[in-house]
Formats: sequence, C-alpha cells, structure tokens
Amino acid sequence: MAIACSCHGLRDAEVVEVIREGACSVDDVMDTCQAGGNCGSCVSTIEMLLAVEGALDAVSAA
Ligand code: FES
Repeated sequence: MAIACSCHGLRDAEVVEVIREGACSVDDVMDTCQAGGNCGSCVSTIEMLLAVEGALDAVSAA
C-alpha cells in the first residue's frame, strides 16, 4: 500500500482502518490518527478513501 499521509507516515491501509472503525469525515480521520492535520496535501486522498469505503454517505446525511 502507498503512503496516504507523508507528514505522519501513515499508509492507505492505516487510514482505511480508521475509516472502518467509524471515521466518516476528514476531521474524524484527523482527530483519530492525525492524517491531514499538518500540510493538508493528503486531504484529497483521505476524501477518496472515505468515498471508496462508502463513509461519505454519512457526511452528506449529517
Ligand atoms: S501529507 Fe498528510 S498532513 Fe501532510
């Protein structure tokens, strides 16, 4: 798997695990594992992983 967040050295699989454990927004992911919380360049990757996991449905319903 590729690195999702280079600032925090987090792989795609680690972010997906956070999403599968209940994170349903970039802020949730950030709060849980810090991905996206530094330079922000990985936010689009996090959004893509949220979409792939179907977690964005929860965001649009909120
Ligand atoms: S690459 Fe994720 S916050 Fe910088």
